[in-house]
Amino acid sequence: MSMRSLSNITAPLRRGRRREDSRLADHVDRLGEEHPPIPLESVDYTMKKPNLLAERFGSVLAYMTRVELEVERNVLELNILLPDPPEVDRRFYADVWMPQETRHGLILDKMQQLAGIVPHEANLTDVDFKLKLLGALGKVPGVQDISRMLYYLTGLATERSAVLAYNKLHTGLIELGERAIAATVVAPIKRQEPGHFAYYQMAAQELWGQLSGWQRWLTRSLRKRTFEVVGAYNKRQVTEFGDVMDALEVSRGGEADLRDYARQVGRAEYELMFAERHGLRVPDYVFKSLRRAAELAAERKGETWPAAEPAPL
Ligand SMILES: [Fe+2]
Ligand SMILES: [Fe+2]
Repeated sequence: MSMRSLSNITAPLRRGRRREDSRLADHVDRLGEEHPPIPLESVDYTMKKPNLLAERFGSVLAYMTRVELEVERNVLELNILLPDPPEVDRRFYADVWMPQETRHGLILDKMQQLAGIVPHEANLTDVDFKLKLLGALGKVPGVQDISRMLYYLTGLATERSAVLAYNKLHTGLIELGERAIAATVVAPIKRQEPGHFAYYQMAAQELWGQLSGWQRWLTRSLRKRTFEVVGAYNKRQVTEFGDVMDALEVSRGGEADLRDYARQVGRAEYELMFAERHGLRVPDYVFKSLRRAAELAAERKGETWPAAEPAPL
């Protein structure tokens, strides 16, 4: 973590804007007290069969490690998107979220090295053009709220995906008999993700209640057009996420299974933004981008997704 990006987010303490009494501020305080970064000395990297582990879950570990490490870039993005964040947001990002996630990345990175997994290259510095554009648009009255809303929604889907992935990874490691890393790497990490999810959920609910009709309309349409599967910013990464879903057995059952997974990833934002609408219970834009990941991963292996049904007798 470069000290410059850190100081940008930690420097101004706008105490005047602190919402001491808010639910969100209490949540952030509690997370900070109850979940310090995982102590490095608590981790036991003992692996029984690192080769088997790498073969079975290498794609998952490499992917999650990259996403956790890229939090360093997310901080740069935050500085562009929210140059003047509410104090409670600043406290969450700087004092709780970033120190926890950076530690997740560090621990997973060491573990993947020990298992001989080829790491995915992390982008720590290069901020996407779309974000720079949103940052610039933030000077237009009312638009910064939309950027903030989109950031919370991305956080919501990202943290939910992380919770689901670590739960499945934990189960898979136990099945492989890798008890040490299941208990001292994945279990403590997965305990810290729901608190992040809850933060984004509360923040999104609070802000959604303050948005006007046109802001809500624009947020919904931008979200539909810009939804990305967690941590995938190009075709290669979307394909790699397809591999992750395959390894975690999220997509092997075909469309019905994947729709179920999409529902879990997208439920919170669906209920927030589309609650008044009836009918479809899955935001279709979530399902479509997950399906594309599953298809690309299958295609790279010379297969099709979903796997062809055996012909009926
Ligand atoms: Fe994490
Ligand atoms: Fe997280």
